[in-house]
Amino acid sequence: MNVLIVYAHPNKKSYTFQILELLTKTILNENHKIEISDLYALNFQSDMTEEEYEREGFANLDLPISKDVIEEQRKIEWADCVIFLYPVWWSDCPAKLKGWFDRVYSVGYAYGYDEDGKTQKMKTIKYGLVLCTAGHPVNFLEKIGIAKSMKNIMIDDRLGKRFEHKEMIILGGTLNKELVKDIHFKIVGNIGKKLSNYS
Ligand SMILES: Cc1cc2nc3c(=O)[nH]c(=O)nc-3n(C[C@H](O)[C@H](O)[C@H](O)COP(=O)(O)O)c2cc1C
Repeated sequence: MNVLIVYAHPNKKSYTFQILELLTKTILNENHKIEISDLYALNFQSDMTEEEYEREGFANLDLPISKDVIEEQRKIEWADCVIFLYPVWWSDCPAKLKGWFDRVYSVGYAYGYDEDGKTQKMKTIKYGLVLCTAGHPVNFLEKIGIAKSMKNIMIDDRLGKRFEHKEMIILGGTLNKELVKDIHFKIVGNIGKKLSNYS
């Protein structure tokens, strides 16, 4: 399976980076191929420019798409599976990743109409996984309704019908890492095998 990991964390000393390392290992162990879009390392531009909005806001498909966006779309077309890995910041993904959706999910590609007036061009991807670390424990995020909101936005809207199978795993409780680390590492360590079920 070709696996694209879209990763959004600015710091290599982070817990989320440890998860990335383990995730990469478990996927390669199962002989899948990986590309990583490390958005901070790429210095990925998350703000939509005035020119880009001209294309997006008015669905003007004749206007050009930026090179960095084309490169991300190329990775999507290569992938059978996309994993979004990030820390929960203010009940959502970091702005860098939100900007990836704003720009890479361009009109005529991820939604809206192509030149024939029919469908989007983005291929349907077999499996999409949203994997996020969160300071609060999952049961607390469920109790206050935030887990449901995050799933609603990431799974139902951003992944939407673009993915055949979709899942969100919240690695919660990182405020007390020693308590949750073993469970998290076990979950992440099994992801490589889980992907093999979709191959
Ligand atoms: C700016 C910021 C906002 C955060 N907002 C939330 C939040 O809304 N809910 C939550 O459970 N944890 C929140 N956290 C905690 C992170 O999710 C936690 O730091 C992350 O799971 C693991 O940390 P690390 O990868 O940065 O080491 C926030 C952290 C930061 C820095």
